[in-house]
Amino acid sequence: MRLEVEPTDWGQVLGEAVANFLPLAGEKGVHLSLRKPEELPKVLVDKFRISEVISNLLANAIAYTRPGGSVELSAQADDLEVTTQIKDTGQGIPESARSRLFTKFFRVSGVLEQGSKGTGLGLYISKAIIDMHKGKIWVESSLGVGSTFFFTVPVVEAAKELKVVEAKKEEAIAVPELAQPAVERSPTPVAANTANKKTKRFFKRKS
Ligand SMILES: Nc1ncnc2c1ncn2[C@@H]1O[C@H](COP(=O)(O)OP(=O)(O)OP(=O)(O)O)[C@@H](O)[C@H]1O
Ligand SMILES: [Mg+2]
Repeated sequence: MRLEVEPTDWGQVLGEAVANFLPLAGEKGVHLSLRKPEELPKVLVDKFRISEVISNLLANAIAYTRPGGSVELSAQADDLEVTTQIKDTGQGIPESARSRLFTKFFRVSGVLEQGSKGTGLGLYISKAIIDMHKGKIWVESSLGVGSTFFFTVPVVEAAKELKVVEAKKEEAIAVPELAQPAVERSPTPVAANTANKKTKRFFKRKS
């Protein structure tokens, strides 16, 4: 998988993500909101890839929260990084599952997973993308109360220190496992209900 990073307006990325998911949240009866400071520093990210991470986390938060619950996307910055939070009032994640949450094909066998269509790849792919950005991703959760997923991406100045290269196409960072040719990319952020498409893309990339 190649990263094509460029200085990116994070507030805009978050706004687009929420706009994409409002219909799905509305259908499910889950209240979706965005809270962010007026000013956020620019971050150095591959907008297409990082939008996939936000989409995975929002799709999960909505899927694993019952109607009447809420999901809030928020962000705050320090000198080095922007931390984004996806907080839900869902079923929560048992402590015993948390260490395996970001591994391939892992799903909790709870009520809301039964009969749902997930493949257990969303968080695995998300972690791979965040790792490539030299960021961190983690979760805090309380059973029956809800979960908050956090991830960080570097602000432009700090990214230079971290050697998240500001890559032109020909010098993009190459990561062997998730190879996908740049021509397959869509210029728009990943749309709302992408679980099946995402899985297909993942396997296509791997072959
Ligand atoms: N916000 C959440 N609240 C409760 N459980 C969650 C949440 N996010 C993820 N999980 C649990 O973690 C598991 C793994 O999530 P992941 O996104 O990797 O896979 P998935 O949603 O099952 O399938 P997909 O590959 O379509 O995303 C889920 O099956 C679910 O059990
Ligand atoms: Mg998922």
